Amino acid sequence: MKVIYPGSFDPITNGHLDIISRACKQFEHVVVAVLKNNNKKALFSIEERIELIKESCKDLENLEVDSFSGLLIDYAKMKESKAIIRGLRAISDYENEMQMSLANRYLSDEIETFLMVSGTDYTYLSSSLVKEIASFGGDVSNFVPTPVLKALKTKFYKL
Ligand code: PNS
Repeated sequence: MKVIYPGSFDPITNGHLDIISRACKQFEHVVVAVLKNNNKKALFSIEERIELIKESCKDLENLEVDSFSGLLIDYAKMKESKAIIRGLRAISDYENEMQMSLANRYLSDEIETFLMVSGTDYTYLSSSLVKEIASFGGDVSNFVPTPVLKALKTKFYKL
């Protein structure tokens, strides 16, 4: 089965990586799909985010990295995928994920959303938290893959 893992990935974190590597073991083909969202102010460009995901996941053979705009359901149909996965960290994620999952099922009941519970080490981790800590010079080395750590240093300290 081919599955879509959509998100902003600004930038990819070890929490995302945990979901991606576990999904790659369960599904034949995993497409990480980065949303092109002009309304949201991002630290990394779409191209940078895609490159960071590719560099961080280069050992995963059944993985594809792509971007999309518009409705996720339309993108899933275009990719001929019948499944979407999302990570669930804490109970605070539940409401939003349930709303998205129900909205997507309303749009197409042929495409199912699978919620994967994140690893215990990553329940509080988010891209926003990583950016905030890194912007003040805090250590995020346990939170992100090495290519992202380097990219954050370049962004914030022009190293
Ligand atoms: O990493 P994020 O920001 O939580 O990801 C959110 C994302 C990209 C999965 C969601 O915003 C999305 O699917 N946007 C595409 C527009 C869409 O399909 N909206 C209707 C269902 S929510």
